[in-house]
Amino acid sequence: MTNLTYDEIPYESLAYADTHPNKLATLATLFGLTPPAVKTSRILELGCGDGTNLIAIAQTLPQAQCWGVDASIKQIQAGQNQAKQLGLFNINFTQLHLSEIDESLGIFDYIVAHGLYSWITPALQDTLLRLCQQLLAPQGIVYISYNVYPGWHMENVVRDLMRYHTQQLPQVPFEISMKQAKGIINFIAHLRQQGNTAFDLLLQEKMQLFKIATDNYLYHDFLELDNHPVYFHQFIQNATQHQLAYVTDIEFRHYLMLSFPDQVVEALEELFQGDFFRQEQYLDFFYNRTLRRSLLCHQTVPVQRNLHWENITQCYIANASQPVNSNFFQTRAGETITVKQPLTQLAMAYLAAHYPRSLPFEELFQYAYQQHSTTEPNLPTLRANFAQELLHLYCLEAIEFHIELPAFVTTLNSYPTASPLARYMVSQGQQPVINLRCEFIYLDEVATALLPHLNGQKDKSTLLIVLKNLVKQRKIKLAPQEDIKLVLEKTLFELLQNALLMA
Ligand SMILES: C[S@@+](CC[C@H](N)C(=O)[O-])C[C@H]1O[C@@H](n2cnc3c(N)ncnc32)[C@H](O)[C@@H]1O
Repeated sequence: MTNLTYDEIPYESLAYADTHPNKLATLATLFGLTPPAVKTSRILELGCGDGTNLIAIAQTLPQAQCWGVDASIKQIQAGQNQAKQLGLFNINFTQLHLSEIDESLGIFDYIVAHGLYSWITPALQDTLLRLCQQLLAPQGIVYISYNVYPGWHMENVVRDLMRYHTQQLPQVPFEISMKQAKGIINFIAHLRQQGNTAFDLLLQEKMQLFKIATDNYLYHDFLELDNHPVYFHQFIQNATQHQLAYVTDIEFRHYLMLSFPDQVVEALEELFQGDFFRQEQYLDFFYNRTLRRSLLCHQTVPVQRNLHWENITQCYIANASQPVNSNFFQTRAGETITVKQPLTQLAMAYLAAHYPRSLPFEELFQYAYQQHSTTEPNLPTLRANFAQELLHLYCLEAIEFHIELPAFVTTLNSYPTASPLARYMVSQGQQPVINLRCEFIYLDEVATALLPHLNGQKDKSTLLIVLKNLVKQRKIKLAPQEDIKLVLEKTLFELLQNALLMA
């Protein structure tokens, strides 16, 4: 198969919650930086595809200025059309090749390049890093995702086989090439289905992936010419040459080695020799990592390599974990975690009961302190211990930190307003929809029918009439014993919990 462009085979872009500048600024703050205010920031997405991710971000930050750039005119036009339909005035899409971009675009507080670095030539990877350096505000943050070795050595076996196999074929239509490319993997996976080597497991995993992934996605991951993974140390070397410094990765939990026994940590530390970058690279080998999502800043900005509890005192805190009892909580991922201190237990219980509401650190501390009649005379020690445990819980992915208040509301307005993007997606028959956290959410039948009516013009009594009409018109079905008023309350509550309602 000849190499096909993104105009010929567009990439179905998604929304990536972890690229939201609020997330980037929060992580940067935890590592001792003072990133620019998110609300009024200038945001650039390079290789933005059809703009889905940037549109999801733009609707949560009406005072920010978002700029999406991509080489594919077809995808840029899709983004422009959607922004127009949504009436978003804080977003601009421009068709540009990376090599055509210059400082005329201005300076940006946050630069996002998701799924771009690995899919361009090494020369263009340099261009990308040079642009990030040139266009980044002094305290700004860059997000770059990229495929890494050693994990991609295994992935490349699958990719090489799919590419080799399709190269043996005569020129055939795209769909047939894709069928053949998936077919060769499925064929070998079936022949080896009794096996349990790492390769067998990889083949099984790919068979599952082929069932759900679109051909366009699979083409760009496994068949297109440019897919250039690098080792982390190579990426850092390249970033350093462009005067960019590493801050952290989006996922850093496993790299803190919190769950390793002390003697294992000691043995590993001998390998690391106190060198942070050596440690990260060894742990990439340890985890056979395939993907990194790294944050960078200017080299002139100091980065704290160790997390300090003082930095979390600037954050809002939310807790999506559920209490099992007063000192055990179950995270969203199903992991049970222990909360040791009584003050933290009180705070966690309060936040869990009010999720997704987040409280500023000081308010949360005051709440817990007043609830708990402690005899500890040393308030600063109590506060430091409280912050330290919250930081530990954040590292375990049990709680959320936000440096700025997220865009969704946590109490119901008299005239509820749903996210315009989600309303638009429902009107186009799309499921799942994107919420104000930039996550994908499946809506049930009632929520799907109700969402387009949540335009800030209808109060609850009007919405009740809307719901009754929808039942009459058989657009939604309720069980005979169901109280329609309760159904409305429950649906609005679920939309609120799912971050779909805004001020
Ligand atoms: C794998 S897709 C990722 C799209 C999107 N960022 C996402 O993650 O869903 C890579 C995108 O980068 C764009 N791209 C590739 N090379 C480029 C270049 N040299 N200049 C600008 N955009 C480029 C493609 O058009 C495509 O939309």
